[in-house]
Amino acid sequence: MEIQVGIISVSDRATQGVYEDGGVPALKEAVAGYGWAVAAEAVVPDEVCDIQRALREQVNKGCHLILTTGGTGVSPRDVTPEAVREMATCELPGFGEVMRMESLKITKNAILSRNVAAVIDSALVICLPGKPKGAVECLGFVEGAIPHCIKVLQEVPTSC
Ligand code: MTE
Repeated sequence: MEIQVGIISVSDRATQGVYEDGGVPALKEAVAGYGWAVAAEAVVPDEVCDIQRALREQVNKGCHLILTTGGTGVSPRDVTPEAVREMATCELPGFGEVMRMESLKITKNAILSRNVAAVIDSALVICLPGKPKGAVECLGFVEGAIPHCIKVLQEVPTSC
């Protein structure tokens, strides 16, 4: 089964045209490198309702894995983990633990990222930091566990 991936870049400034989004292109390249297919992509502002709408669209489209980038930090506008948690049936804390632990070897600021992973319906959602380089790095730290996680979620959609 080819893993179908949705990508959501969460950024006020990218949606306002202050700068061009770099999250989606960076993650598309990383996803292709893992041999997975990109089935959906979106760039949304740091608003819970916009993030949740994009998540719902990508879940309904059948994405097995949804990667968000941005909005995991400590600014008042950083609400991506909250948006995901409200829709999730369960969290998978190990993903965030590993991403922070490994990222700390690269930057002290990694401790600021509230990286989370959770299950929405039968999709695995992973919240990555906003810097494209950081998002790709974090995906790389947890990539090895993703195919098995997706396989289990597809077999037993309500397992957690
Ligand atoms: N993790 C990795 N691997 N590489 C990075 O460059 N940047 C950090 C952190 N995690 C970073 C990282 C920084 S500077 C911040 S502020 C937090 O992620 C949160 O980023 P976000 O609010 O853009 O999601």
